[in-house]
Amino acid sequence: MASKGEGVQEQFYFAVSLSELKQSGRKRVILENGRVIAVFYVKDEVYALDHFCYHTGGPLDMGDIEDSHGRLCVVCPWHKHSITLDTGESLYTSIDPFNIRNVKHNCSKGVKQRVHHVRIHEDKVLVQMSDLSQPLDSDRYFTEEYKDLIEGVLKEPILQPNRRTVTVPIHSTRTGLPPSKR
Ligand code: FES
Repeated sequence: MASKGEGVQEQFYFAVSLSELKQSGRKRVILENGRVIAVFYVKDEVYALDHFCYHTGGPLDMGDIEDSHGRLCVVCPWHKHSITLDTGESLYTSIDPFNIRNVKHNCSKGVKQRVHHVRIHEDKVLVQMSDLSQPLDSDRYFTEEYKDLIEGVLKEPILQPNRRTVTVPIHSTRTGLPPSKR
């Protein structure tokens, strides 16, 4: 376990009210620290992941939720990668070309998407950044390199830390299609 000073974030950020999340099932949220996350309410549990898909930045708040042989996943709307809600692993199905009946579900490419810690306090969903000192693929959308892209996509100067949490309604600003198919 990492000790203080090795990337552990102490602060919890307000993300959304639990009652609102229960109604919508999902919410794209910009936290006070500028991180864009997708929050899901599935089977009485709350999950918080980086919003932009590790692969090429697809909008996970538009993804379908599926139960993949016992693992709850969000399926990215752009290229259909399945990402586990609880760990951020990218899953795939493996088939033996010499024995097509030999199918292995839920093979893991490893943890690709950052999943953040969630705490529920009264009606508040609070989110704590996971250990940012351990780089993950989805982190790259929060670097300077992607700042313009994200701002353009969301049509807001979203990377300015704001005292208030700003929410963007689902389906309001982005298409579920990858850039190549728009
Ligand atoms: S952008 Fe998500 S699977 Fe490609």
